[in-house]
Order: sequence, then structure tokens, then C-alpha cells
Amino acid sequence: AVEVSSRTISTMETEKEIVGSQKQQLAKLFEESLRAAFPDVSDVQSLIAICNDAKHGDYQCNNAMSLWNKLKGKGTQFKGPQPVGKAIIENLPASEMIEKCSIAGPGFVNIVLARQWIANSLQKMLIDGIETWAPKLPVKRTVVDFSSPNIAKEMHVGHLRSTIIGDTLARMLEFSNVEVLRRNHVGDWGTQFGMLIEFLFDQFPNWEADSTPAIGDLEGFYKASKQRFDSDTDFKERAQKAVVSLQGGEEKYRKAWTQICEISRKEFQKVYERLGVHLEEKGESFYNPYIPKALELLNEKGLIEESEGARVIFIEGKKIPLIVVKRDGGFNYASTDLTALWYRLNEEKADWMIYVTDVGQREHFEMFFSAAKRAGWLPSNEKDYPKVSHVGFGLVLGEDGKRFRTRSTEVVKLVDLLDEAKSRCKLALVERGKAKEWTAEELEQTAEAVGYGAVKYADLKNNRSTNYTFNFDQMLSDKGNTAVYLLYAHARICSIIRKSGRDIQDLKKSGAIDLAHPDERMLGLHLLQFAEIVEEACTNLLPNLVCEYLYNISEDFTRFYTNCQVVGSAEETSRLLLCEATAVVMRKCFHLLGITPVYKI
Ligand code: ARG
Repeated sequence: AVEVSSRTISTMETEKEIVGSQKQQLAKLFEESLRAAFPDVSDVQSLIAICNDAKHGDYQCNNAMSLWNKLKGKGTQFKGPQPVGKAIIENLPASEMIEKCSIAGPGFVNIVLARQWIANSLQKMLIDGIETWAPKLPVKRTVVDFSSPNIAKEMHVGHLRSTIIGDTLARMLEFSNVEVLRRNHVGDWGTQFGMLIEFLFDQFPNWEADSTPAIGDLEGFYKASKQRFDSDTDFKERAQKAVVSLQGGEEKYRKAWTQICEISRKEFQKVYERLGVHLEEKGESFYNPYIPKALELLNEKGLIEESEGARVIFIEGKKIPLIVVKRDGGFNYASTDLTALWYRLNEEKADWMIYVTDVGQREHFEMFFSAAKRAGWLPSNEKDYPKVSHVGFGLVLGEDGKRFRTRSTEVVKLVDLLDEAKSRCKLALVERGKAKEWTAEELEQTAEAVGYGAVKYADLKNNRSTNYTFNFDQMLSDKGNTAVYLLYAHARICSIIRKSGRDIQDLKKSGAIDLAHPDERMLGLHLLQFAEIVEEACTNLLPNLVCEYLYNISEDFTRFYTNCQVVGSAEETSRLLLCEATAVVMRKCFHLLGITPVYKI
């Protein structure tokens, strides 16, 4: 034990120790107790949860009942779950964390955390940084496959959802010290390129000399080429030959393909820049050369069968098999995804593959995940690593309850949405007289942060699997659970600190936090729950948990601020530090959600 503690101290000196979540810290304490109290029962994991009723405690340990079920009938000295709970309490190692424990019902152990410990933890975080609160996750390297639009096709609202949700998941995992490979699985391969290339040749005889032929909007280009493909048999034939030439690697075709991709990519990049999202493109074409090898591995396992001229994998419980080689000998979406999975597992050594697409693709993911399990690439138990997860999300609806579209019934352009959000915010700020108060740059930056933040937050706050209605008025309201309200709440806290005239950096070192008032204690306790919320959001891939938490924190703060005077009170120092801790936690939540905080309003 001595050795362990001295090692901990030395790491604390060199780099700041990551303490893990409160729940993880409590779990450790209770596991020690369980090992001491029940040495014969091996492998007990402590079950720690937030107390159902805050009147009884902050957390509870729920091991007694299941332990009793294991013990009874084995000649145990215990007489029921209550005494088991009592033994858990008696064997707890001494800790500053816990003020008291009590037993309720059939052996639940209610835990009240020590006020001083909460205060100290907050203060330590203010000095060491919120990174020391990062949760500890059982993964090292993950692939987050998100955004993934298709070349020459429109990047629709579904891709916006994928981009926003995927980016947030990546940010949460990165915060938790997991290495994240942010992958843009762009649809840049397939038979549509034949017609696109032939159309390019026809429309722009000089395309080779021109690095960016003015093909205008790619969607229009795609539509026109498709129309030609459907109506002109000669063109159709040429387009089909072009696919063969492209896939055979013929120089001229390769070059045209590269050029079309390049134009699309520039369009995508505009959206990513606006959203502040960074991705690394490894499109479908990247995996193409590896497909024969991956399929050979599946074939060796006897998984691939012949069916109606195609090569397929049968999946238990599914009527239709997964096609991996089409009748014409070509590869498809599934062969690419299986190969990409193989690559991610074997070449990139990732232990968690996360795919963010609309729920409509669930079947596709279930199918190729099952195939990979059959091949033994993935463990059969879904809880074990390496692991795959499909993060499905619902539709974005318009006011009419139908799929979200603009008046012209065209698919909504993402960039236009962001522009509109920003200009509406700017207008609201001007109406509040900010154009006179701020520089033009400040106005611009705030409008952008709030506008883009509002679009992201409106998406992320919903449980991702449900559909949601896109409504500018609602998402840009400064009341209720919106980014605008939360960003303003944060700015107000910053202004309280500024206006106090005290130097917060000094206070962090010299002052102390006390949580005497119940509303202070409540706020402090909930701030400390940050890490376990992030942990849960990562584990279940649910960013809305962070939104919910952020909103609750702002409510706790309002209650505290209404009932506790800050500036000019005897507790000014402590309360300013509590304001600062709230601002730090809120800012980190914004960061995880990809929202830029604002400091004044
Ligand atoms: N390009 C696809 C689409 O737009 C999404 C790709 C998702 N990723 C994957 N590995 N299948 O629907």
C-alpha cells in the first residue's frame, strides 16, 4: 500500500492526476469495502448510483440485496440484506469524501458526501484545470465515422446531423483521453462516376487544362448527367464503359474523377469550416484496393456463398443475405464497409468503431456487424472489445411535420441555414443596442457563436433517435432550454465576476470555497457530477445528456444566485469562486458540444 501511495504522489507532482468521476471514486472505496467484508465472494463490482431521493443522500450503493442472494443458503452469518449493508458501511476505508452513510429499505446504503470534500474538489479543479476531471474509459483508440456525404450529391440535413453529433462524440471521447480517428467515409466511388465523367467530357472539352471547370453547383451537374443517362442510350453506354475505365485505373478517367471529387470536397470544406469541425477523409475509394483481400479472408472462413449469381453472406435471423459481390462482379456499400472495418481493426488497431448515420441505415449496419462476428473479427458478446456501435439518428422535420425542406421544395442547403441563424442573431443584438456598444467584429463574432451554437444545440438536445422539428424562432429564443439562453447565462456569470473588481486568479490561490447554504452545496455537488455525465454520454453515445446537464447547472446557478448574495456579502470570495467553477464547467460543456462561448452580452 505504501508503494502505491508514494507512486500516486510522484505522478501528482509531475503531471496533474486525473481523479475520475465522483462515481468512479466512490466505486473504488466501496469495492475496497466489499473485498474486505466479503472475501469469499469474488469479483463483486460496486453498484453506485445517484440517490433517488436527494433527501436521503447524494449517492447510494446498491450491492446488499444481490450479495445477500449470493450468500444466503451458504451458511452465512448474515441474517438478511440489512446486515449485509451494515457490513459494507463498517468496512469502508477512512475517506474525507464521505460525511455519513445510512441504511434504507433492503440494505441500500445512502451516502452523503462531505461538504468540505466537495468544496476542496472544486477548488482543486479551479487550480489544476477541468481536464483532471476527465472520466476514465475502457478504450484506447476509437474510430468515429461521421458526416460522410457523397460526392456530387447534395450534403443534406441528415449529413448536418451526422456532422454535429459525430463531432460532439469525438470531442467527448477526446476529452476522456481516448485517441479518436475522425473519419469522413465519403461516398466517392461507385457507378455514378461513369455518367459524371462522361458528362464532364462532353460539357467541358478543355477540362484537362482547367483545374476547376466551372460546373457550377454539383447537384445541378449530377441531375443533368442523370437525366442524360436515363434518356440517351448512347451516353448510357459510354458512361458504363467509363466506369470500367475508371476502375481499371485509366489515367484520363482517374484524373477526371479526382477533379470532380476536388470540387465536391471544396463545398464540403466550407460547411466544416463554418461548423468548426475537423475530419480526416478516408472515402470509399480508399478501401477499394483492400476489398479482394478482405473478402478472401471471409471466404476462407466459409462465409461467402453463391446466390442468384451474386456472392453473399447469410445472416442468422435475416431473410435476405448481405450481398458482397454484385452479379456484375462489382463491389458495393457492404463490401466497402466490411473492408473498412477490417482495416480499422487490423491496420489502425482501433478498439471501438462508431458509425453516425440516420436510423434508416440500421439494417445495413446490423448486417455487416453480424457478418464480422461470424468471421470472428468481433467478439460474439457485444459488451466485449473490440466493439462496433451504430449511432442512429432521426429525421429533421419542417413545421408541416414532413421532411425539412425549403419553400422551393429543394433540399435545404446547410450553409444557408447557418447564414440565416447568424443574421437573425445579429438582428436581435442590434435591436438590443449592441451595434453602438461593441465593435463590428465583436458583433459579428457573437452573432456567429450564438447562431451556429443555436443550430447545433437544437439538434443535440434531443434524444438523437427521435425526429425533431427545425424551428428558428424556438432555437433562437433567449428563454428555455436553448443555446442562446445558456450562452447568455454563462456571459452573465462572467460579468458578475468582472464587475466584482476582484482578481479571480488571485482568489483561486488565496481564497477558499465554503458551501454553507443548501443552494451552494447543491450547485457544488452537481458541478462535480460533470465527469460522470460525460462518462455516461460517451458510454451510451448520447450527447443530449450533456445538454440536459448544462441546462440543469444553469438552473442550479439561478437558484443559488437568487438566494445567495455574491458581491458585497461576507461570503463574497467563496461565492465568486463558485461562480468561476460554474463558468468553467459550462464552458467545458459548450466545448464538448462544439459551441463557442461568449463572455459578454
Ligand atoms: N455516404 C453514406 C450516406 O450518405 C454514409 C456513410 C456512413 N459510413 C459508413 N461507413 N457506411 O448515406
